[in-house]
Amino acid sequence: MNTILVTAATSVLGTQLIEKLKETHVKVRAAVRNPSKAAHLIAHNVELIHFDFDIIATYENALDGVDKLFLIVPLVPHQVDITRKIVKLAKQKGVKKIVKLSGLGADPESDSQILRWHAEKEEVVKKSGISYTILRPGNYMQNYVYGCYGHCMNSIGTLKLPQGEAKINQVDVADIAQAAASVLTNFGHKDKIYNLTGYSYTNMEIVDLLSNITGRQIIYEDISHEEARAMMQGCKCNNQEWKINAMIELHQVCKDGLMEAYSMDLKNLIGKGPTTFAEFAIEHKSAFTNT
Ligand SMILES: NC(=O)c1ccc[n+]([C@@H]2O[C@H](COP(=O)([O-])OP(=O)(O)OC[C@H]3O[C@@H](n4cnc5c(N)ncnc54)[C@H](OP(=O)(O)O)[C@@H]3O)[C@@H](O)[C@H]2O)c1
Repeated sequence: MNTILVTAATSVLGTQLIEKLKETHVKVRAAVRNPSKAAHLIAHNVELIHFDFDIIATYENALDGVDKLFLIVPLVPHQVDITRKIVKLAKQKGVKKIVKLSGLGADPESDSQILRWHAEKEEVVKKSGISYTILRPGNYMQNYVYGCYGHCMNSIGTLKLPQGEAKINQVDVADIAQAAASVLTNFGHKDKIYNLTGYSYTNMEIVDLLSNITGRQIIYEDISHEEARAMMQGCKCNNQEWKINAMIELHQVCKDGLMEAYSMDLKNLIGKGPTTFAEFAIEHKSAFTNT
């Protein structure tokens, strides 16, 4: 039986991917920093393993006997370095396949540091000699619930983002998880890059949808970089300066209209069209009405 290691298993995507893999016959190892906080992930075919990207000694056990690695690397400034370390050990340990989470628009020339990091990490995986599949999702719809601007929107009823009137690709993490499970449990997909896109919306369209579905008036305010910086500095997410700068660059890439791409890859992998924002909002209605 195949053993699949999922890193950052407590992340929004990691958690939903493990839920999908629970329905299959593969053996899953969920790599978590704090196993005592991740008991909800355990199932008949899912075991927890202590794993910290910053503690190299935890890599060895986590990779022992692993056939496939689903690689989610957290948003940290040394993400390329930790990617090199885990991919190098994966090669030594005989891992046969890496499925790497990347981001839509990953490009070494991007104006966004986050998208340049993704491009660098993709190169590390491509050059490893291990068979790979790269998944590049658009913006998670879940950011409107759990993200920094989601917290703000849901508490004050105003979505504040420096993204102008641009259309931005929005994808439901449940769809990404289904696509990832399909890539991990079916044959094929060798050395492919998939753009996992939903439909694209302006933030004005999103707040109109949310207002109609929740019955609560939610408005969009197109803010300046300075206002976005102040908002992130004051947020309970405890954002550090490098992260604030990286997020502002990414918002600008969105504002420049560079995150509007649509691809058939997601539909081809999950056998249905992507979830619309309206469907997502109906399913998560209570999250948008809690103040
Ligand atoms: N959010 C989006 O719209 C979006 C879209 C496309 C791609 N992505 C990519 O998705 C990736 C993950 O981003 P995210 O927004 O989901 O969450 P994130 O904040 O980057 O990562 C959170 C996850 O990483 C784990 N983690 C953090 N530091 C760790 C460490 N030292 N060792 C082991 N695990 C560690 C956390 O575990 P704990 O539970 O222990 O804290 C948590 O599970 C990034 O590469 C991002 O670029 C995100």
